[in-house]
Amino acid sequence: MSNSSAESPIDNISSKIRTQIESDTLDEKDVESLLKEIELLKIDNEKMRAKLVESSMLANNYLEETNKLKKQIEQLTNPPLFIATVMEVDNGLALIRQHGNNQEVMTRIPDNFDVEPGMRVCVNAAFSIISIISKAADVRAQVMELINSPGIDYDMIGGLDDVLKEVIESVELPLIEPELFEKIGIEPPTGVLMHGAPGTGKTLIAKAVASRANATFIRMSGSDLVQKFVGEGARLVKDVFQMARDKSPSILFIDEIDAVGGMRTHDGTTGSAEVNRTMLQLLAEMDGFDATNNVKIIAATNRIDLLDPALLRPGRFDRVIEVPLPDEKGRNDIFKIHTRRMSLADDVNFEKLARMTKDLSGADINIIAKEAGMFVLRRRGEHVTMNDLMDAYEKVVSEEGEANTPHSMFV
Ligand SMILES: Nc1ncnc2c1ncn2[C@@H]1O[C@H](COP(=O)(O)OP(=O)(O)OP(=O)(O)O)[C@@H](O)[C@H]1O
Ligand SMILES: [Mg+2]
Repeated sequence: MSNSSAESPIDNISSKIRTQIESDTLDEKDVESLLKEIELLKIDNEKMRAKLVESSMLANNYLEETNKLKKQIEQLTNPPLFIATVMEVDNGLALIRQHGNNQEVMTRIPDNFDVEPGMRVCVNAAFSIISIISKAADVRAQVMELINSPGIDYDMIGGLDDVLKEVIESVELPLIEPELFEKIGIEPPTGVLMHGAPGTGKTLIAKAVASRANATFIRMSGSDLVQKFVGEGARLVKDVFQMARDKSPSILFIDEIDAVGGMRTHDGTTGSAEVNRTMLQLLAEMDGFDATNNVKIIAATNRIDLLDPALLRPGRFDRVIEVPLPDEKGRNDIFKIHTRRMSLADDVNFEKLARMTKDLSGADINIIAKEAGMFVLRRRGEHVTMNDLMDAYEKVVSEEGEANTPHSMFV
């Protein structure tokens, strides 16, 4: 094989034979053995060819495998992308501000991107724009619910007189009569934190206060603030507080605050670092508030045990109000509220219902009333009877029992 590659061993032999023929030294025996040799060489040749095919197939497989592994390495070693906001655009260059650390850099806008100020973009470690996420306004709209006046009145809330009094004093009064506080020389609380079991009326109270105070009601949920991009949660907090200031007088209601306001963890994961950053932004925003802002913050949680104590320091949520499960009288009131627009039969006994429904929440009672209404509808009846309410009670309690298996986390 070390000879010239164009010449096969067979060619070699035939030239040898040719010389022998020319010199006339070839006898029959020689020819026979030479022919045999040729046969053997042909077989060898075939074998080699087969081996070659086999090897090249193997080589192909290895190549594929290598490529796959290369891709994996690339994915594993690729640095994450960061989120930045475009601040200014000028002559093919963009001034971007990175979320989280607020670092500002100029970067060239890639030809195929139409970048405008206010947009959020993904950048790599070299600050090259990799993709456009969305306009800032889109995210705001997703996360916040803006209700000009929620249309809930205090008389729709049963059994929470003390809680209401406290909320009115710390949220409504400073909004509608700020001079009262000035005169006495006390500062109204910046934020009010309501905590209590699910369905006890925390959200309801926040809405009622907003209606009464004639304020814009901005509602957002802590779990919406836990975003998948680095720096995004903190940015949303900033946005939402800005919006609250723009729309003042306003009430900013942060539901499920435990999702971001949970004890700061230091497990070193990016996820917890991110939640911590969102939380720090929240603290910073609250610290930046003063009484003249005309913005009140109400937060709600049913896991106060999980909250970071830093949130409860003076100047932040310095009023903590417990919203308890309704007592018997409260349940009686709530039954009346939720059956107010129903046509009731004479036998309906609210006292009895209130006695039976110990440990149930206002939300449970609302469901009982609705279920009872459905029973009447199904039998094409005219009035809601005590029987309907009792059946509905049975149904709700048994469903509740099923939900309260030991697997349920929040019982
Ligand atoms: N005290 C109450 N008076 C009248 N209705 C109530 C009361 N509490 C709860 N409800 C009813 O239950 C529904 C749910 O209550 P709400 O959303 O305010 O509970 P929540 O305390 O915010 O619960 P969660 O902790 O699960 O968010 C209300 O829309 C209302 O119909
Ligand atoms: Mg709620």
